Amino acid sequence: MTATATPETVAMRILVINGPNLNLIGTRRPDIYGTTTLDELDEQCRHWGADLGATVETFQSNHEGGLIDRLHAARHEFDALVINPGALTHYSYALRDAIEAIALPTVEVHLSNVKARETWRRHSVVSDVCVATIYGRGVDGYRAAIRHLVVRTERPVETIAYGAEPDQVGDLRLPGGTGPHPVAVIIHGGFWRDPWSRDLMDTLAVALADRGWATWNIEYRRVGGGGGWPYTFEDIGAAVDVLETFAEGHDLDLNRVVTIGHSAGGHLALWAAARPRLPADAPGADPTVVPVAAVGLAPIPDLMTAHRLGLGSDAVEAFLRRSPDAGDGRYATASPAELLPLGTRILLVHGDADDAVPAVMSREFAGRAADAGDTVILLELEEVDHMALIEPRSSAWPRVIDEIDALSGRPAGDD
Ligand code: DQA
Repeated sequence: MTATATPETVAMRILVINGPNLNLIGTRRPDIYGTTTLDELDEQCRHWGADLGATVETFQSNHEGGLIDRLHAARHEFDALVINPGALTHYSYALRDAIEAIALPTVEVHLSNVKARETWRRHSVVSDVCVATIYGRGVDGYRAAIRHLVVRTERPVETIAYGAEPDQVGDLRLPGGTGPHPVAVIIHGGFWRDPWSRDLMDTLAVALADRGWATWNIEYRRVGGGGGWPYTFEDIGAAVDVLETFAEGHDLDLNRVVTIGHSAGGHLALWAAARPRLPADAPGADPTVVPVAAVGLAPIPDLMTAHRLGLGSDAVEAFLRRSPDAGDGRYATASPAELLPLGTRILLVHGDADDAVPAVMSREFAGRAADAGDTVILLELEEVDHMALIEPRSSAWPRVIDEIDALSGRPAGDD
């Protein structure tokens, strides 16, 4: 679809700004920044925008003042911004103030994984005035940023902190109508690593809110960003339990909380449902909010097997900071497969063409959970890959949404 402005619909206008030295991408350190040139990136951004019904314009400058002047002018011309400030990210308070002053929703993007490079690159002075920061995903980070800005306009969203760390936040979206509303706690994947964040689940959050769910799309500390054992587990527990503090104000039904996660987030969604079974000294033990169902979309329910298969370039070992041979019970506490029965309804959806997390993981887990006494639905989808389950244009998407919606606890047919 091309963005066409008719008198009734005015396309969202997004400005994509690149700062110093980004005119050289394609040849500048291709090992770090890739081989796409700036012209190609700009063209891609216009295309990605058009595809989502937005008009994208691009601008690049090597000068701090030029960038600031362009930001000031953008105030009246655009609805939102994507900015990669280059090295200015790390020290330009003038640029930070300009972003704050024009008050347009802004996503900060970096091609490289700035958190895994020199120490001075880890700090950004602009993050606190941006609605999201996306890094380490190459040029695809710009696509994610544009999509995030477009999806943000589809429903009102409130970002709420559940702790003091920057990643201890979630996005709350409320459905229309009167409550009490069923609650979907949505947990993104990415092998628990920090370049991946909750923007991955924006569209699912909106789709479920459209179906009458309150959606709580959570962030959590991840490997490379202060997470991993035990912090990620503590965060998931806190992010679920915090619902208690705003349930009344937003008319949430805490007897109809469902955790829903994709990939590594599927692991966390299943684990969150198993919290009542944790030993008292385990991170995340002693829950105050307990889900009635858990959904794994291409999940990793068994960390021992995932470790043995070396999934995600040995992601499990980095996540738990241990090999299973350590024998200290960490895997048993962290892995849903070791915590069966979960004591909740379980829905597993897995594509048989998934080459990131093989479908056999859900199949085996479903068998073990059923043997242990849990009620399990396993849906294996033919010719469906790993990302299709959270991609609204995939053939799998309508099925995914319907199956999740069936867990709402609403009487059948009551839309
Ligand atoms: C960058 C990261 C910055 O640290 C660096 O100075 C850049 C590019 C990135 O896109 O990864 O110029 O913003």
